[in-house]
Amino acid sequence: MFEKRIACIGAGYVGGPTMAMIAMKCPQYKVTVVDVNEARIKAWQTDDLPIYEPGLLEVVQAARGRNLFFSTDINAAIRESEIIFVSVNTPTKTFGEGAGKAADLQYWEKVAREILRESESPKIVVEKSTLPVKTAQTMENILNANDRNIRFDVVSNPEFLAEGTAVKDLLSPDRVLIGSRETPEGLKARQAIVDIYANWVPTERIITSNVWSSELSKLVANAFLAQRISSINSISALCEKTDASVAEVSRAVGMDARIGGRFLNAGVGFGGSCFRKDILNLVYICEGYHLYEVARYWQSVLEMNEYQETRFVRNMVRSMFNTIVGKRIALFGFAFKADTGDTRESPAIHVAKKLLDEKAELVISDPKALDNARIDLAGCGGGIDYVEDPYEAARGVHAVAVLTEWDLYRKLDWGRIYGSMEKPAFVFDGRNILDTRKLFEIGFNVYPLGRPPLKHF
Ligand code: UDX
Ligand code: ADP
Repeated sequence: MFEKRIACIGAGYVGGPTMAMIAMKCPQYKVTVVDVNEARIKAWQTDDLPIYEPGLLEVVQAARGRNLFFSTDINAAIRESEIIFVSVNTPTKTFGEGAGKAADLQYWEKVAREILRESESPKIVVEKSTLPVKTAQTMENILNANDRNIRFDVVSNPEFLAEGTAVKDLLSPDRVLIGSRETPEGLKARQAIVDIYANWVPTERIITSNVWSSELSKLVANAFLAQRISSINSISALCEKTDASVAEVSRAVGMDARIGGRFLNAGVGFGGSCFRKDILNLVYICEGYHLYEVARYWQSVLEMNEYQETRFVRNMVRSMFNTIVGKRIALFGFAFKADTGDTRESPAIHVAKKLLDEKAELVISDPKALDNARIDLAGCGGGIDYVEDPYEAARGVHAVAVLTEWDLYRKLDWGRIYGSMEKPAFVFDGRNILDTRKLFEIGFNVYPLGRPPLKHF
């Protein structure tokens, strides 16, 4: 009764929301999302979804049980589907050749072999996870090294959604990119994927390319976005020493239509599962081709990010009279950005660890990310409390550091917080979201990012 069957292997931040959107928009297709992680699949079957993403539950509810299914039966999903999206994790390698830089492809290759083993009919395999350039070719080689005469076409369809705005990004993407071989079979496979998105994405926003361009575009888009953040963060350091405000500079610079105003917010550093990993990948690939100058150029984007995190902590320690031993410090926000519970590569992890090294005591607060924070900081030792309510978290602390731009922190009763803190009371605004003048008038010593501090001594 369904026109086509689509499977997605990997029910994470990419696979789950993307497939939910495809299922909602294409009732004629059966969409089955599978994962080895049983708990994750179970959660997708309830209204307590495994990831927090505004608006996602409504999308899932619109299609679940109708044409959207979540299952752990990976083999059955492979067998029955004509199109298989693969969105398993591709973390940075921690061992062997390329450790710390190259992508760890063991999950991808394992999936390729599962697809090969289970398939009884031709499949279009769609690469959805970020992978180093030329992986599709490798996958096609593995898949087509079969003696059962089954045809596999590998298509690259990188996902550009950002967490926290995934539903909006999927509903109305800037572009959908589909890369394939430019052979008759490759073009046919490409068209099958175009046909899915054409159900709701205007055709002029669906662009196609060869496989290598598509794979590389994902890395480059993320590298460019991260580069903008590192650029403005480098200027924030200069602004703090002079009388400039980085927000004013970024507004003036961003109003140049050639530059544009987005992704110019200075902060404590970028996090998330993609930026660091993708730049490391780009650097690794460039080094592989002996393009050392190019590799160094992109490496410096990461170095600037690490500098920003380190600088933030150094500034905290210096401002609090050069010692934070035994001082309680509340961290407001642990997610890598607002509107997500995800903490992968969150600058908060690095800041927290550095503060613990300085022997501070921490109170971590976040509306959605405390479970992940506990996992990230497990085994770090030192005194760490996890308190969701920011007023409770701030009671008796010497300082509050805002590390995620959650809207709720803008709206807090900062006078009440000040009243319950140790004095002198410090606020370090790592995301530039607070009304610093007002906080200063309440009595805080305020350290905004990219602006000179406002202090009472
Ligand atoms: C990113 C890309 O935006 C997305 O296209 C890709 O598919 C995956 O990687 P994501 O990591 O989910 O998405 O979030 P993003 O909004 O890009 O933010 C990444 C980090 O940069 C966050 O830590 C955020 O706080 C930080 N950031 C972003 C800034 O510090 N300043 C800015 O101006 C924008
Ligand atoms: P992303 O942000 O790229 O979506 P996640 O880590 O959130 O990454 O999701 C990747 C998912 O892929 C995880 O839920 C993981 O359990 C799943 N996964 C990894 N390897 C396999 C595999 N061989 N078969 C099925 N699922 C897998």
